[in-house]
Amino acid sequence: EKNVHDKIDYVFKVVVIGDSAVGKTQILSRFAKNEFCFDSKATIGVEFQTRTVTINAKVIKAQIWDTAGQERYRAVTSAYYRGALGAMLVYDITKRQSFDHVARWVEELRAHADSSIVIMLIGNKGDLVDQRVVLSEDAVEFAEEQGLFFSETSALTGENVESAFLKLLQEIN
Ligand code: GTP
Repeated sequence: EKNVHDKIDYVFKVVVIGDSAVGKTQILSRFAKNEFCFDSKATIGVEFQTRTVTINAKVIKAQIWDTAGQERYRAVTSAYYRGALGAMLVYDITKRQSFDHVARWVEELRAHADSSIVIMLIGNKGDLVDQRVVLSEDAVEFAEEQGLFFSETSALTGENVESAFLKLLQEIN
């Protein structure tokens, strides 16, 4: 970790979106604090966490915003997406519906975010292999069609969480 005296070259705002309970808050906690919480509560409103990383010799402070997937808690849209340079669009590999809704989340991004936003599609809960219902190939195909990056992660084990965030931040440059 960088100490407070290091100068920050860039602050990048990243938003995390996707259906309720796909693991948005846990992915963010894993990246920002290397923590996972089993009895995670639904997010109400908007929260953010930060982590500072060095990419290509530049010190980048990632300011990562997390909001509720549940429609009734979503007071946001324009304000949430304003200034966002990257988006993590998360679904749950064990919940077909969360993948079926990904197209709607992409539409919301296209409507409210800057057209140059970098989007990473994330299939989370990769540790639950025996409950998988969404095939990686289907997600890869969708990501290619839509020009998104793609990764499968587990916030529980931490697998690919770091690399997915670093890839997104790197592509923003
Ligand atoms: P909202 O705030 O309602 O939008 O939900 P969210 O997308 O932020 O989901 P959250 O991070 O709160 O996680 C929902 C549930 O899934 C919690 O019980 C987590 O413990 C669990 N969970 C999150 N990530 C993983 C994962 O990678 N593997 C497993 N097995 N469980 C996970």
